[in-house]
Amino acid sequence: MQIHYRRLLDDLRTLAKFGQVRTGVHRLSFTPEDGAARHWLLQRMIEAGLDAQIDGIGNVYGRTKGVSKAILMGSHTDSVPKGGWLDGAMGVLYGLEIARSRIEAGVQSDVGVDVISFADEEGTYRALAGSLSFCGQLSDADIEAAKSQQGTTLREALSESGYAGRPRVKLDPGRHVAYLEGHIEQGPRLEIEGKKIGVVTGIVGIRRVHVTCTGQADHAGTTPMHLRKDAGGALISYCHDLMQRFAQVRSPDSVWNFGHIVFEPGAGNVVPNLARVLIEFRDVSEVTLDRMQGEIIAAATQANGRGGVSVQANELIRISPAEMDERVATMIEAAALSRGAASLRMPSGAGHDAMVLTRHVPTAMLFIPSIGGRSHDITEDTNEADICLGIDVLADTVHALAESNAKRS
Ligand code: GLV
Ligand code: MN
Ligand code: MN
Repeated sequence: MQIHYRRLLDDLRTLAKFGQVRTGVHRLSFTPEDGAARHWLLQRMIEAGLDAQIDGIGNVYGRTKGVSKAILMGSHTDSVPKGGWLDGAMGVLYGLEIARSRIEAGVQSDVGVDVISFADEEGTYRALAGSLSFCGQLSDADIEAAKSQQGTTLREALSESGYAGRPRVKLDPGRHVAYLEGHIEQGPRLEIEGKKIGVVTGIVGIRRVHVTCTGQADHAGTTPMHLRKDAGGALISYCHDLMQRFAQVRSPDSVWNFGHIVFEPGAGNVVPNLARVLIEFRDVSEVTLDRMQGEIIAAATQANGRGGVSVQANELIRISPAEMDERVATMIEAAALSRGAASLRMPSGAGHDAMVLTRHVPTAMLFIPSIGGRSHDITEDTNEADICLGIDVLADTVHALAESNAKRS
């Protein structure tokens, strides 16, 4: 079976035109650009001979016809604001190219390849919504509760996009023997260590907490400092305190980010009556995550009421750390070795749909290097030769997995 590298690279470049921003993409979930990309992908799946559909959460899913079992391959095609062209897109198009090449080559196997682009992995409304839905972990109440920063609900976005009311596709334990996700590393380790293939051992847990300070709006010129209930100043002090607290309880792997902040009403001459920060923190250990969250709460308790400002912490997202399947990871490692590619076992600091799938089906991930470690930015890039090597290693892994599962039946 021959992978068509040129076709893969052309598909990647075509997909990158949907929501293109210079060298990157701005393709937030359920925007017109995201919808157009999904419809393009649906057509490419149908042209490849897959039985394809877009489901009730926006997942684009293509099944190989005439097989009783399948290796599921994919990732996501939504992006962060002004993100990169390969984050997610590459894993989906790896799956498409491998499925298509196998169909074209007439590979005789009872185990096919199914391809999926999961909706809203990046969490414009609800991080990992598509994979959670696929694994039966997203209820109607979750869809009702999920909201964008602008306050639009996921339910409204689904209606607007025309997906609401469609059936939601589900993992089929009788059919899906494994899930394989190819992805760019999004960090610098492979490049620094001179390795070409990352074999993912596990994925960090991710938590998000909103901390909200509530005070009183007043004239910023006439209100003496000691009479203010300044929510903005309180939030800045809170964040400073929390940075020091995190440093006390962190592990070497811990990371945190103050990624979004709002001051209301948001004018230079009005004391803020409300200030809110979105804090995200990650670690491979649930114990460390608990310690960090404990500091968020302790800092809020300590600050609450000071200067007439209330301080409240509210958990938004809790995703547990996830391990990858050792047997499939070893198969990726062996495939890399037989292609002469140096590989590295490594944890993933980024979240991926694989962290949902791994609780239901043997799951593994392959990384290829990111130039300069850059990602979640339009500068994100990877050498074409590395993209081609990555798909070769993944295609070999699919072949080995298909063989081993066909033998078992
Ligand atoms: C996904 O890209 C994440 O790590 O948030
Ligand atoms: Mn991402
Ligand atoms: Mn991604």
